[in-house]
Amino acid sequence: MTPNATPPLSTEQQQQLLDAARAAQRAAYAPYSRFQVGAAVLDDQGRIHAGCNVENAAYPEGVCAEASALSSMVLAGSTQLRAVLVVGTGGTWITPCGGCRQKLREFGAPDLPVLTANATDMGPRYTLSELLPQSFGPDHLGTTP
Ligand code: THU
Repeated sequence: MTPNATPPLSTEQQQQLLDAARAAQRAAYAPYSRFQVGAAVLDDQGRIHAGCNVENAAYPEGVCAEASALSSMVLAGSTQLRAVLVVGTGGTWITPCGGCRQKLREFGAPDLPVLTANATDMGPRYTLSELLPQSFGPDHLGTTP
């Protein structure tokens, strides 16, 4: 995990994350849960990458929206997160599942902003270390990725 402080998020970047996550959510493939999720990540080059959940008839093989967005970020050549936003279905604000928290941890600093939104509004904002305290990461392996 990078020890550097994550730069502040501008209002414009926040809006871009929200727009990208909402657009991705509309593309979600969630015929089993009917719970469509969109995620967007901001990378260290100021680019936004979006993802949606993609479910499978073999249920455990489904992919979360955050994992999908991270794949896009890595494919585009970045391994440094600056912010994440996740939007779920309906009125509740969701936070990344446990597995996705660990996936975010690979590429994000402890102060990484994790933003939430529902169908109509922005919700609470967290840091990654609030959602995944005392976590395990690349630094514990003693090798720099
Ligand atoms: N889901 C996500 O995509 N991200 C989360 O953080 C929570 C859950 C998906 C997985 C599954 O397709 C559906 O939401 C219901 O659990």
